[in-house]
Amino acid sequence: MTCAVVLGTQWGDEGKGKITDILAGRSDAVVRYQGGNNAGHTIVVGDRTMKLHIIPSGAIHPGKIAVIGDGCVVDPWVLIKELEYLEGLGIPADNVFLSDRAHLIMPYHRLLDGIQESERSGSGKVGTTGRGIGPCYMDRAGRFGIRAGDLAYEDVVRERIDEALRKLGPRADGSGMEADAIASDLRSVQERLAPHIRNTVDMLNGLVKEGKDILLEGAQGQMLDIDRGTYPFVTSSSCTAGNASAGSGIGPRNIDRIYGVVKAYTTRVGEGPFPTELSGEEGEAIRKAGGEFGTTTGRPRRCGWLDLVVVRSSVAWNTIDTLAVTKLDVLDGSDRIEVCTHYMLDGRRVEYFPSHIRDLARCEPVYVEMEGWGHPDWSEGVADRVMDYIRLIEENTHARVGIVSFGPGREQTILR
Ligand code: GDP
Ligand code: IMO
Ligand code: MG
Repeated sequence: MTCAVVLGTQWGDEGKGKITDILAGRSDAVVRYQGGNNAGHTIVVGDRTMKLHIIPSGAIHPGKIAVIGDGCVVDPWVLIKELEYLEGLGIPADNVFLSDRAHLIMPYHRLLDGIQESERSGSGKVGTTGRGIGPCYMDRAGRFGIRAGDLAYEDVVRERIDEALRKLGPRADGSGMEADAIASDLRSVQERLAPHIRNTVDMLNGLVKEGKDILLEGAQGQMLDIDRGTYPFVTSSSCTAGNASAGSGIGPRNIDRIYGVVKAYTTRVGEGPFPTELSGEEGEAIRKAGGEFGTTTGRPRRCGWLDLVVVRSSVAWNTIDTLAVTKLDVLDGSDRIEVCTHYMLDGRRVEYFPSHIRDLARCEPVYVEMEGWGHPDWSEGVADRVMDYIRLIEENTHARVGIVSFGPGREQTILR
């Protein structure tokens, strides 16, 4: 039995979907443990590009058990569409299970997400995905959220909807939010999703006992984590490996392997600090070469050089043992490549990401510059000059690079 976690070490979109897909081939079950359809995970197999937002990426391997765990927030209408999407690809969705403890994103959560963004002043805007993620987690913490398991109890659902709308107060005026209509829509949801809703904590622990291999797929990335990220420019869940246990119900002692996914440069979508961001032509060149546009919202991603303070912190905070470095091919043909190895603050060397964004703003990134590696023949393995880049990552993070990715396809991967 192995139980492994895959998580993003930067600001999301590192290529977790691709790496999960590669590792899922050897797993019996794949599990999402946090976040919702703010995530957009891309998997490319042959000439087919597939995008999943809430169902774990490993589900595209027919026959795998795919679980959406306790720690997720789930828009049931999006889930229904995604189940149909999977079936449309010829992949049976009978093995996709939703935890009865996962919270459901309601139409009023999406509404409130938009209202809260519009109420924030210019520099305070988070740039959320607008999917209702934050408000759903707020109701969960406020203890009036609706969990998937509540759908079987109409009176419970109705009480929670009434309470949520009461709390929304005049902000819901003119929005068309109506308790009867929402309750009635949820009855149809229950009919459609009932076969998929399970006590997935018992299910997963049963699989652990049987000695099955389980892969836990993180969403977002370490610097979007609600505690460790650039608060308040973060998402509303914990993106750490630690939360893989809490968000799935698999005890922490059963997790034995932690993979961190690192993009060969850095991107961020939405607002918030980004120390190595490149404005102007250099950033634009990376965006173009890497096709850096959001999978979920289509927004252009902000681009910059690799920041090893970010990756070093992620490795330490998550006890990552293996790194997967993606999108190295995007840097092919660059004249020069810069890598931030540490920051300087008031004459001191900063190795780990600061806890306050005001301190981060005063940090000066320090770079090493490398000559570009030209256009290597990736089919021959990792070229020497690319190896120098990988060694720089290993030396600075104290983690081994076990997976090298040089294209979106499965076959564009080197396992070391
Ligand atoms: P995720 O959110 O971490 O799963 O990442 P996304 O799917 O949002 O974004 C990563 C994008 O990069 C997707 O379009 C992938 O198909 C693509 N991708 C993944 N690995 C590589 C790689 O090594 N090279 C290139 N060129 N593209 C990659
Ligand atoms: P994957 O799993 C990149 C960002 C949003 C915004 C902030 C808060 O594909 O890597 P939210 O809607 O979560 O309240 O938005 O977090 N964000 C992501 N950025 N990749 C993601 O997911 C993201 N999910 C949320 O852009 O800045
Ligand atoms: Mg993504």
